[in-house]
Amino acid sequence: MTKFLTALGVLLALHMASSNKLVCHMTNWAQYRPGHAKFTSDNIDPFLCTHVIYTLATINGLNQISTIEWNDQQQYARLNNLKKFNPALKTLLSVGGTVNGMSPFIAMVARPESRAAFIKSAIGFLRTHNFDGLNLAWEYPAHNGSPEQDRERFTLLVKELVAAFEKDAKDTRKTQLLLSANVASIRDTIDRAYEVKLIAPHFDFINLMTYDYHGHWEAATGHNSPLYSSSMDMGNHVHHNINSTVSHWLALGAPAEKLLLGFPSFGRTYRLTTGSAGLGAPTNGPADAGPYTRTPGFWAFYEVCNFLTSAHTEWIEEQKVPYATSGSSWVGYDDKSSFSSKVQWMTGMNLGGAHVWTLDMDDFSGSFCRAGSYPLINHLRMSMGFSPKPTTTAAPTTTRDPIADFCRGRPDGLYTNPADKGTYFQCYLGNTYLHRCQPGLIYYDSCKCCNWP
Ligand SMILES: *[C@@H]1O[C@H](CO)[C@@H](O)[C@H](O)[C@H]1NC(C)=O
Repeated sequence: MTKFLTALGVLLALHMASSNKLVCHMTNWAQYRPGHAKFTSDNIDPFLCTHVIYTLATINGLNQISTIEWNDQQQYARLNNLKKFNPALKTLLSVGGTVNGMSPFIAMVARPESRAAFIKSAIGFLRTHNFDGLNLAWEYPAHNGSPEQDRERFTLLVKELVAAFEKDAKDTRKTQLLLSANVASIRDTIDRAYEVKLIAPHFDFINLMTYDYHGHWEAATGHNSPLYSSSMDMGNHVHHNINSTVSHWLALGAPAEKLLLGFPSFGRTYRLTTGSAGLGAPTNGPADAGPYTRTPGFWAFYEVCNFLTSAHTEWIEEQKVPYATSGSSWVGYDDKSSFSSKVQWMTGMNLGGAHVWTLDMDDFSGSFCRAGSYPLINHLRMSMGFSPKPTTTAAPTTTRDPIADFCRGRPDGLYTNPADKGTYFQCYLGNTYLHRCQPGLIYYDSCKCCNWP
């Protein structure tokens, strides 16, 4: 028995040491989608992800971090309030986007004084709104009007940010702010944009944007986020896949445990031009926009699952991802099976975990796919081996519920569930959470832990 427990402990420790982050992005433009697709901070499940990144904030003309939407501050407060329900949840604010078609990072990184002004404003803003960190979303240094020197200036920004975060933590005696970035997946872009060896050690985690490998800007169908290359890939396209991107980041000196694999909760669409509907079939642009995302070229997962009810689906065995066609519409998307394949590969590579683009494109409300709320991300969470989420016993609206009321007036802590020894209650700020022990174990109040009967 002791041996078994030791082995179990080693396994758990190994698991904790590797792919243990599940970072989820939310976007502040998803609030404008109609009907059941409207998404705000209030739609977040506080127990689904380890980190939530609020996208997007920007940088103003005075190099200060600043809001974009009229209700950002309200949404920050709703998001960060979720930490009262799940104290382990971490939140980050993402900064980026464009102002008049240009990245606001370009002017900010150009001079030491403007970088210092940005860093000071960012720390103050994150602390004021109770965020745990900052996410840099610059697409990309040395691209789209950003000069070649921005590669080095980005390195300076990263180093100066971390030094300032360290100092802030010492001065305020608070936990140090986290730093992460969303980074490129195409080899030429990576090489031109980043000094990988110099920046990687400073990030808590690096979100590889391992999607958008193919889309309607090309003249033939290809998958949004394939795990491996296809035998049909020609020229540089042999590198338009997850395996190739991650190999490149590792070869450039990024530590595996800092890299998070990007899982898309969306698919990319094409309009077919001939009777051919396979991989590499001729196309001329995107399929019709989805009724909720209303942007031609991609469909949210909840739009894909509606399309699937009348489409023909195929699994691309070489690339471990599915596509679907109906009439002249073609979509390369991700589902539970492709997420499982990618998780298996990701854990084998000892990466730091997963990040999902985005919470608001999964079927978060459960109204579209008939598979419960957040079907894709819940599946991802489960495939990564996280323990089951605590069941939140929501406050009853009509009748008094003895379980939901259990924690009312009790101090925070763990308590025996007299009705079921295999479970226990956690009280936090008067809210009741029901946790389940691992199969075969029961809860002991003497150690506040689960153990063998
Ligand atoms: C994955 O990438 C590695 C390193 O570049 C390569 O050797 C291997 O063949 C790739 N695997 C597949 C299945 O394409």
